[in-house]
Amino acid sequence: MNADSFETVIVETDLLILGGGMAACGAAYEAAHWAKKHNQRVTLVDKAAMERSGAVAMGLSAINLYLGLKNGKNTVEDYVSYVKNDLMGIARKDLVANIARHVDSSVHLFEKWGLPIWKDDDGNYVNEGRWQIMIHGESYKNIVSEAAKNALRELGEHGSYHERIFITEPLVFEDRCVGAVGFSVRENKFYVFKAKAVLDSMGGAVHIFRPRSVGEGLGRSWYPPFNSGASTYFTLKSGAEMTCQEVRFVPVRFKDSYGPVGAWFLLFKSKATNAKGEDYMQTRAGELDKWAPYGSTKPTPTNLRNYLMLLELEEGNGPIFMRTDEAIQELVAQIPDEKEAKRKMKELESEAWEDFLDMTISQALNWASHNIMPEETPSEISACEPYFISSHSGASGAWISGPEDLAPGEHFWGYDNMTTVQGLFAAGDASGASSHKFSSGSFTEGRIAGKAAIAFCMDHPEQVDVSDEQIATLKEQVLQPLKIFEQHHGYTNDEDVNPHYLKPKMFMFRLQKIMDEYAGGASVGFKTSEALLTKGLEYLQFMKEDAEKLAAGDLNELMRCWENVHRMWQAESHLRTVLFREETRWPGYYFRTDHPSMKEDWEAFANCRWAPDSGEWIMIKREIL
Ligand code: ADX
Repeated sequence: MNADSFETVIVETDLLILGGGMAACGAAYEAAHWAKKHNQRVTLVDKAAMERSGAVAMGLSAINLYLGLKNGKNTVEDYVSYVKNDLMGIARKDLVANIARHVDSSVHLFEKWGLPIWKDDDGNYVNEGRWQIMIHGESYKNIVSEAAKNALRELGEHGSYHERIFITEPLVFEDRCVGAVGFSVRENKFYVFKAKAVLDSMGGAVHIFRPRSVGEGLGRSWYPPFNSGASTYFTLKSGAEMTCQEVRFVPVRFKDSYGPVGAWFLLFKSKATNAKGEDYMQTRAGELDKWAPYGSTKPTPTNLRNYLMLLELEEGNGPIFMRTDEAIQELVAQIPDEKEAKRKMKELESEAWEDFLDMTISQALNWASHNIMPEETPSEISACEPYFISSHSGASGAWISGPEDLAPGEHFWGYDNMTTVQGLFAAGDASGASSHKFSSGSFTEGRIAGKAAIAFCMDHPEQVDVSDEQIATLKEQVLQPLKIFEQHHGYTNDEDVNPHYLKPKMFMFRLQKIMDEYAGGASVGFKTSEALLTKGLEYLQFMKEDAEKLAAGDLNELMRCWENVHRMWQAESHLRTVLFREETRWPGYYFRTDHPSMKEDWEAFANCRWAPDSGEWIMIKREIL
């Protein structure tokens, strides 16, 4: 493929939204409203097709964040303390509260747009847990993306969305983010988006650590494998401060197909046990005292639930089972009438299957192919490989401004959700320290950020231009892997093995090996130490040098090259921050064997910044306010 044949397409806009997932859809929906009022332009760019892109692509069986503020059962403060406890004290209260106070209205919009939400006989939503409501969510993303697209269409020529364009680099001019560049994954086109404000909502990062799935199953992961660290790369390269880059999320899921556990634990009240049938949450409850005060909070923080399970495995007590059989039998046993009990059994069976069919179809296939009937057979569960997300029980992302009325002084700098770089906003998995936003909260955070970004555009109406020279340099850099391949691929008889270059897949495997073995991946029981991290960083520096030799035979591989460069930056910020935080705070996510307990002076945010001028990494400890 000839890199010189690429046309350069320039798109000028006011607000540029990067990504097409829940946060981006929320941003588009809200920004379109304010843009229409104030005559602003909004452009959204997605790497895939919005209808099925992002973490909610496959659907969901529950909305995990709904407060039901109107019926008075919960308060915003309740939610904030739940989130803070779950993350062992590391959370920005202002950001969590800002999402929580607005999230219900987003859920009501989803229902209005056609999302079927389970209702009880009195017409109330059916709660899975305190904050979670059940949905028939196979088409959740289609419904939400349609609303976002409609909102953009209503702007006429001032609104547009571009699909199948992969964003590679930010455009930065004098400490202000003024756009982004990327390329089409279908046509030979290099894109330059010039904007007054940019909203980064390109999801989290998967496949940084060696996954448990191998060979033909490689793409099977809990979070979408297409989330490849673009958000983090974009904010880091812009020079923005990042937070919680050490807080990876390790979900416990149904083994191998990564089916959700929430409905089982919360709705069906199932237990997980070791192979001997012991409920480790009971038998190992004493362990939780070591993690005071968070060990005793209810519910037990996600990472500590993981930790107790990991201790079982370490002692050879696996496999770990979700006792679906016992849970269903117990629910049916509560019904004295035989006929009614039979009906209930059928209902529970179908709910169990729907839970997977709504969001993780392969788990239903796994059950079918292994002759598992959940009402009769328990299922294995297992800790996944680590992921980088802030929408579930992880927290990594950009350090952003909170809302003026809630943020303590230092945490407000002009516009909700703006990063420390002027004009650059972040939402969803791209913004950090506000965990547990899930699908509804990410959409809501997108709305908050979208509105603030339009305000920024109006306050900064000047169009900052980037020089043609800067664009030409970026184009050459982005298309470089095509050139390298073209130049050298004839040298060997197998295009994948060549002394002049390396292909993105090999590069990814190498990154995953470093991360797994040195940064506490699944194969080493999530354990690491200063010595291991230092070695890992050393190997990563060699990778950074070799990244210049990445080669791509086609557009798809060009995307894979850049995905893996993005992953590498996510990996580096993780390694550095795990090293910086000299304690173990989330033992079920990673364990520092050289600092095996929680320390009072580390009840703080561990932030970092890559300085574009010097290329240096700056580590920053920030107080929790
Ligand atoms: S999902 O994103 O795949 O649906 P998951 O299965 O972890 O998430 O759980 C759904 C929701 O239930 C999340 O809000 C999660 O924090 C919560 N949850 C899951 N298991 C438990 C548990 N054992 N105790 C308390 N909350 C739980």
